[in-house]
Amino acid sequence: MSITSLLTLAAFGRLVLGQSQPPGVSLPVAKTCGPTTANIVCIDRYGSVLPYHFFRESSVNETSFGQTSVPNDTSFGLVGEADFLVFDEKRALRALGSAPTYDFIFNVSAAVHEAPVWVPTLNKLFISQLAPPPGYLPQLVVDLNQDPPTLSEYLSDPPVYAPNGGTFYNGLIYWGASGGNNSIGGTEQRSGIRTLDPLTNKTVTLLNNYYGYYFNTVDDLAVDSAGAVWFTDPNYSWYNRLTDTAPQLKPASYRFDPKTGAVTMIDDSIAQPNGIALSPNGAHLYISDTGAVAGLNQQDSPPGSPFNQTGPRAIYKFDIVDRGTHIANKRPVWYAQDWVPDGLKDRLDPVFLTAANGWVLTGAGKGVDVLDEYGVLIMRVQTSYVVQNFAWVGNELTEFWMMGNNGISRVRWALQGQDLAAI
Ligand SMILES: *[C@@H]1O[C@H](CO)[C@@H](O)[C@H](O)[C@H]1NC(C)=O
Ligand SMILES: *[C@@H]1O[C@H](CO)[C@@H](O)[C@H](O)[C@H]1NC(C)=O
Ligand SMILES: *[C@@H]1O[C@H](CO)[C@@H](O)[C@H](O)[C@H]1NC(C)=O
Ligand SMILES: *[C@@H]1O[C@H](CO)[C@@H](O)[C@H](O)[C@H]1NC(C)=O
Ligand SMILES: *[C@@H]1O[C@H](CO)[C@@H](O)[C@H](O)[C@H]1NC(C)=O
Ligand SMILES: *[C@@H]1O[C@H](CO)[C@@H](O)[C@H](O)[C@H]1NC(C)=O
Ligand SMILES: *[C@@H]1O[C@H](CO)[C@@H](O)[C@H](O)[C@H]1NC(C)=O
Repeated sequence: MSITSLLTLAAFGRLVLGQSQPPGVSLPVAKTCGPTTANIVCIDRYGSVLPYHFFRESSVNETSFGQTSVPNDTSFGLVGEADFLVFDEKRALRALGSAPTYDFIFNVSAAVHEAPVWVPTLNKLFISQLAPPPGYLPQLVVDLNQDPPTLSEYLSDPPVYAPNGGTFYNGLIYWGASGGNNSIGGTEQRSGIRTLDPLTNKTVTLLNNYYGYYFNTVDDLAVDSAGAVWFTDPNYSWYNRLTDTAPQLKPASYRFDPKTGAVTMIDDSIAQPNGIALSPNGAHLYISDTGAVAGLNQQDSPPGSPFNQTGPRAIYKFDIVDRGTHIANKRPVWYAQDWVPDGLKDRLDPVFLTAANGWVLTGAGKGVDVLDEYGVLIMRVQTSYVVQNFAWVGNELTEFWMMGNNGISRVRWALQGQDLAAI
């Protein structure tokens, strides 16, 4: 850098910032950008050099990037307000398309809202709701044929307790059922995998034990083109009072073959395996670790699991090997910029899905991060509530619904979801 530009920068620093700022800082960090149909804010160079003195609090609660204090750049105030926070301007604006929108659609209870599955033949979006209250069985359904869409309760036959992850395969909804109780609605239910036929409302149990042991918390799942179900089994349900039996198994991830009934462990290295997603080309599997939220292992401790800012909270990517039966080459691809312990209900839910183009979307705190397949952050959708899960709907699969504690909202953009009906 020439002496003149150094002097200019120093003068700029003194004049504008009132103190000496690091060479390399470029202001403003944030600016309004893109189409005006939504509140879009672009961040310059990922905000990689912020003007001093900046600070982001560690918290036991969710915090977001926009809550970082950056008093020497007033533009930073735009960050917290944005619906879409853009980091990679070129790719994000292409994915947002010409008229992106963000709309808050439904107020819902403070319970966890999960396992969204769009059923194309009905054009309905099925969503689960977990306790509280304990033992509550009805789930939810959004009727997208109505304008505006309507929300109602939905009871399958027989009902399924605490579906925590969901996907669509071969005309059926696959639910990861996370609760276990010897008398719920008069019958026994154990954590496992159920299918729901959305045309008849009938459910069938595909899996409810591991050689006699109860699964801890069957959480999220993905079905591959051969029909095998890849699922995670962390141990939150015990701490969240969703099961009457303490964990009998180490938190782990598995592959289940419904054709034979065989279950194979695929990973036991993750503290709390939670979200799981297959890449559209079937070559990779992603699993997230939410070990930063963990139960206290104390007798009579209050329900829920506290958040530990420095605990595990990464997404790992694996290669699928051994003729599609195992995973190898574990590597972290994303360290959550924001993570949320969900109060007493207490689930932070970094479930994720892959888009049609292989990008990875993960719910983290009050929003959804959009990453490329190598874990580079492209943009973040920001919400006013903690997002637990999301799904694409519609014939073009460019409408994206998010749900969580207290809210359900909708994004319209150009980023297409995977066509699960075609798997
Ligand atoms: C810039 O930051 C310094 C501390 O690093 C602070 O003393 C000063 O007040 C800040 N200026 C503004 C305008 O906030
Ligand atoms: C975290 O959130 C809870 C519930 O909203 C609140 O009672 C508590 O004060 C918050 N703690 C911090 C450190 O912000
Ligand atoms: C949600 O509830 C808030 C507070 O009661 C209200 O202001 C808002 O209009 C509601 N939104 C919707 C979409 O119902
Ligand atoms: C089992 O579920 C019922 C609701 O059907 C609930 O009242 C009871 O507390 C649950 N038992 C345990 C041990 O979680
Ligand atoms: C399935 O449940 C829905 C919603 O409760 C209901 O409208 C529909 O008639 C049921 N279908 C059958 C075949 O019972
Ligand atoms: C639940 O999982 C965590 C993280 O792997 C582990 O530390 C804890 O001991 C487990 N709890 C029980 C009761 O097995
Ligand atoms: C938080 O996690 C870190 C890293 O796993 C661990 O060293 C530390 O003891 C944890 N803190 C608490 C309070 O559990």
